[in-house]
Amino acid sequence: MANIVCIGAGYVGGPTMAVMAQNCPHHRIVVVDINEARIAAWRSEHLPIYEPGLDEVIRAVRGENLLFSTEVDRHIAEADIIFVSVNTPTKMFGQGAGRAADLQHWEKTARQIVRNATTPKIVVEKSTLPVRTAEAMEHILNSNDKGLHFDVVSNPEFLAEGTAIRDMQTPDRVLIGAHHTPSGRKALEAIVEIYANWVPRERIITTNLWSSELSKLTANAFLAQRISSINAISALCEQTEADVTEVAHAIGMDSRIGPKFLRASVGFGGSCLQKDILNLVYLCEYYGLPEVAHYWEQVVRMNEYQEARFVSNMMSAMFNTVAGKRIALLGAAFKAHTSDTRESPALAVCRALLDERAAVVLSDPHALENARADLGDQAAQVIFELDPYAAAGGAYAIAVLTEWPQFADLDYEAIFKSMVKPAFIFDGRDILDHQRLFDIGFNVYAIGKPPLAHFTSSVPGPS
Ligand code: NAD
Ligand code: UGA
Repeated sequence: MANIVCIGAGYVGGPTMAVMAQNCPHHRIVVVDINEARIAAWRSEHLPIYEPGLDEVIRAVRGENLLFSTEVDRHIAEADIIFVSVNTPTKMFGQGAGRAADLQHWEKTARQIVRNATTPKIVVEKSTLPVRTAEAMEHILNSNDKGLHFDVVSNPEFLAEGTAIRDMQTPDRVLIGAHHTPSGRKALEAIVEIYANWVPRERIITTNLWSSELSKLTANAFLAQRISSINAISALCEQTEADVTEVAHAIGMDSRIGPKFLRASVGFGGSCLQKDILNLVYLCEYYGLPEVAHYWEQVVRMNEYQEARFVSNMMSAMFNTVAGKRIALLGAAFKAHTSDTRESPALAVCRALLDERAAVVLSDPHALENARADLGDQAAQVIFELDPYAAAGGAYAIAVLTEWPQFADLDYEAIFKSMVKPAFIFDGRDILDHQRLFDIGFNVYAIGKPPLAHFTSSVPGPS
């Protein structure tokens, strides 16, 4: 039996350790966090995050071999293996502001480990970190005066929110990187052994430390690049009467391209894709590779363009003024099946419409609480409404911003009747039946599709 501790009880720490505990009943796992409210929620019936399947796993293991605690120091002292999954957001101050990763939480954690350790430990990087972070961590951990040796292993997490439990149970691969030294190999083998309890060996990849760290940033950059690529094509489709869904299907049938991550949208959101590309851009600049940095930066710029373009399209369709108009935004989460609103394109659209003085109503089945917190002072200007029918009643326009499947199944005839005419619908996720909505009477604008409008507005907008 190993004593495993995970520092950071967030979107990664909670679900990953729950699945690990379920598959390793012989190990004892404690998830610790300095956020008392979060730990209290993990111990309660109302978990701090909404994630399909999570409640069931937690119910099965909590209080058995999975514990949640705020006693960080005590559990560090008792641990053999420490996974660190604290947040590594974009740095917002000083050198590298707006690009580099803010590593203060990681470094504090490393120092806390050194302070409290009385035995050697394996420290596992679960957080997403810039390549060569392990080197700094090894310096901090191994400059102790207790004669203790620490091995640093990289084990980046590839789960996506909304499918976290499935991704953890049956991962495409588990990546583990360590130094090719006897002690590094031993540490690596210990982590492989944990995953081998439920992941087939051929799906557990081992590399050197730097390849592992860099693979995580690269995977997110490639995923985001595909979305920006199809979104760039969606803009061209709207000008040429091509249909982006048909184009995505046609190219995705090529086995070299593949069909996944080709859904055009209002933009990608979430706490990681943008943050990790910006970090990659910073690293390239740091290592004197400005052309490479510029190449990847365009993926983020295209995403910003897509969000802004969506709002411009709304404005120009609605006679270039939305001031005082009620607009129902369906979706606040950055993607379906999560309550997470971090970097959500829905909130970017919401803020842009508030700047235009629209009367915004926000509806989402699970994310309204987080949306209210993320909007900060601007939340006071927004109406939060769980019921999408109530949100749409009296609205001039609806915009679908999260691909919750229930939004595709609403009674749009009843909704149309309850709206101000002419009624507009903007599908930022291409999940609705556009022809049917047009037949009901809506003016329909979807990403990457020719508009289905009963008239064209010729009111000039800002040039
Ligand atoms: P999160 O903000 O939800 O959780 C991080 C937690 O760490 C917080 O609860 C915070 O209180 C805690 N923490 C910070 N400093 C601490 C300290 N010194 N001691 C104890 N606890 C501390 O973040 P997250 O979404 O879980 O992401 C964590 C890391 O995993 C990031 O590096 C992220 O890039 C990466 N990642 C995230 C996802 C995802 O889906 N969210 C997926 C893969 C990788
Ligand atoms: C992403 C990666 O998919 C995970 O592998 C990674 O572990 C994680 O980031 C991380 O490092 O945090 P996540 O952000 O949870 O996961 O969700 P995704 O499914 O990648 O979606 C990201 C955004 O892209 C969402 O806003 C989603 O709606 C959008 N998206 C996705 C599209 O617009 N089109 C697509 O085809 C796919």
